[in-house]
Amino acid sequence: MPANSNKMWQGRLGGSSADEVDVFNSSISFDYVLYEEDITGSIAHARMLGKQQIISKEDEHSIVEGLQGILMDIKNGDLEFDPTAEDIHMFIEAELTDRIGNAGKKLHTGRSRNDQVALDLRMYTKKQIAEIKTQLLQFEKVILDKAQSHIHTIMPGYTHLQIAQPVTFAHHILAYGQMISRDIKRLDEVIEHTDVMPLGNGALAGTTYPFDRQFVADQLGFEKVTANSLDGVSDRDFVMDTVYALSMIMMHLSRLSEEVIVWCSQEFQFIELNDAFATGSSIMPQKKNPDVAELVRGKTGRAYGNLQTLLTMMKGLPLAYNKDMQEDKEALFDSIHTVKIALSAMIPMIDTMEVKADRMRDAASKGFINATDCADYLTKKGVPFREAYGVIGLLVQTCIKKAITLEEVPLETYQSLHYLFEEDIYEAIDLDNCVNKRNIEGGPSPKAVMQQMEQLNTQLNIDPKHLL
Ligand code: ARG
Repeated sequence: MPANSNKMWQGRLGGSSADEVDVFNSSISFDYVLYEEDITGSIAHARMLGKQQIISKEDEHSIVEGLQGILMDIKNGDLEFDPTAEDIHMFIEAELTDRIGNAGKKLHTGRSRNDQVALDLRMYTKKQIAEIKTQLLQFEKVILDKAQSHIHTIMPGYTHLQIAQPVTFAHHILAYGQMISRDIKRLDEVIEHTDVMPLGNGALAGTTYPFDRQFVADQLGFEKVTANSLDGVSDRDFVMDTVYALSMIMMHLSRLSEEVIVWCSQEFQFIELNDAFATGSSIMPQKKNPDVAELVRGKTGRAYGNLQTLLTMMKGLPLAYNKDMQEDKEALFDSIHTVKIALSAMIPMIDTMEVKADRMRDAASKGFINATDCADYLTKKGVPFREAYGVIGLLVQTCIKKAITLEEVPLETYQSLHYLFEEDIYEAIDLDNCVNKRNIEGGPSPKAVMQQMEQLNTQLNIDPKHLL
């Protein structure tokens, strides 16, 4: 049996816990990151206890000062976390009592670590989401700038990664702008669920002390307080909402990464990465590898895994707090960290990549990308679309045999296939015209793209709700 038996929760337990149990139980190796939230939350709690005359003003002040001192010392590197402490909450409370004596023992009045950890985690999550949102807004800006320079850059649009219809690079990259825009809105929704203050829920059944919960919420910048104490201490929906929203961000980044990887291949050469965002090979001197994009794609798996971990961890838990819930932290922290570093590498990589407009246009001139427009030409002259589709299908077959493009087909051949073909067919299948004519809202024409950009810009400019 271990010698150390002075646990704050020793309570009814006669013997001490085994060393192995202490190691297994301890979460300070990862929950130390909550130190600032824990201290700020405790300061708000102590002020409330003082205001409600649950503790004396003198005790309140000495607790607040003691906690402020601890915060400063941690930040300055003058106080190290004790790796043998059970968790960050115990560590700080013990340190406080060491420093100020008896008053420190009053801090935990009417509070449990169950509502305390829920509070800390909500505060931490709010702060992290605000930081990620700031990064996403930066990314949106970079995407808009890139789009601005390529409103007229024709590139092939794909389905099944087969050349389909012409679009512009602006239109293509703005599709990611839309995804990021939704990611930003999703984070706003997550913040709403997170912005609820749980102190006062106690261990599970509230408290008999006359707490002013709203006072604590106001001090800590929370919108409202939790409505049910059992739910308040055991609700981790906001953690899963966050990790889901982060998984979506990673999925979007991963799709863009996949495109970047394909685009910078020898076969495509649609873009050239800046050397600062590429790596070489230790054996093949000619290599320039898109490691950043590959790592983003690879790390997406971790984010999904974290979501799975949390959903599974929660699924069988009876009300209210269960120790299983200590497992929420590493998954959440890992997803936050992953998204932040992925964004910090990805944003400048996209910003600095060179878009090779000539290569894109060249690729768009192949693969009969204007075949739909060719069929539409006949349809607009009264031929039913299915019939026109059949005619152009035959024409494409002939072109493949002769290894020529639709632009290279002589007018006589067109007319031999359908009498309605005239000289203006060449204008109708001209790539720029094909794009310009797709002037429908949401389409790739320069005009439609500029409208799209304006809308995204508005979000960028009005938004900054929940920003730092
Ligand atoms: N370290 C714990 C956690 O992260 C704090 C809550 C502990 N509560 C308890 N009753 N043991 O969940």
